[in-house]
Amino acid sequence: MAEQLATNVHWHEHMVSKAERWQLSGHKGVMLWFTGLSASGKSTVANTVDHKLHALGKRTFVLDGDNIRMGLNKNLKFSAEDRAENIRRIGEVGKLFVGAGVITSTAFISPYRRDRDAVRALLEPGEFIEIFMDTPIEICEKRDPKGLYKKARAGELKGFTGIDDPYEAPEKPELLLDGGKKGIDELADEVIAFLTSRGVLKL
Ligand code: ADX
Repeated sequence: MAEQLATNVHWHEHMVSKAERWQLSGHKGVMLWFTGLSASGKSTVANTVDHKLHALGKRTFVLDGDNIRMGLNKNLKFSAEDRAENIRRIGEVGKLFVGAGVITSTAFISPYRRDRDAVRALLEPGEFIEIFMDTPIEICEKRDPKGLYKKARAGELKGFTGIDDPYEAPEKPELLLDGGKKGIDELADEVIAFLTSRGVLKL
């Protein structure tokens, strides 16, 4: 993982505490870490949760793989090393959002267990909620909204997750969503029910 290179830097405490920011939000900040194959439905469910919570007056935001890779992480490719750096940066950015009192959804394939666990370790207990979009690859491949599975099968795209690059499913996710059988709305409601059961939300 990343090494501290800058010297002569000192941590500066904020005058407004995390607890005070959370109080203003009316709820704590958490990171809803959606992980799963490309086209498994991560972004769609994350955005639906975001939309529903926003409508309820909650402070929310979505950090989405494709979008972040066109900005903050535009200098990263899909090697194991670059994927690790992609996830590390999102973990750090998400941690800032959590500290600001935002229910932060992230939608990244994040195929490697150790990278996801490293983000979990960045946060306080209970702040990192790993949500596994458990959609079978056959279904993702059939959907193929960006035509990438087709390209990968044709050998035109190397190192594609699920085809010739591994996806390590979470062993003990906080929440498992059956993306093969259930609809987006139902899955989003499962996430919201989970947040209520954990006391993050009082609806
Ligand atoms: S991650 O592996 O580093 O977590 P991330 O979620 O940011 O991936 O980006 C995945 C998206 O990038 C996919 O939905 C797909 O649109 C695109 N993509 C392009 N090349 C690849 C690849 N080799 N493997 C997986 N996704 C890829």
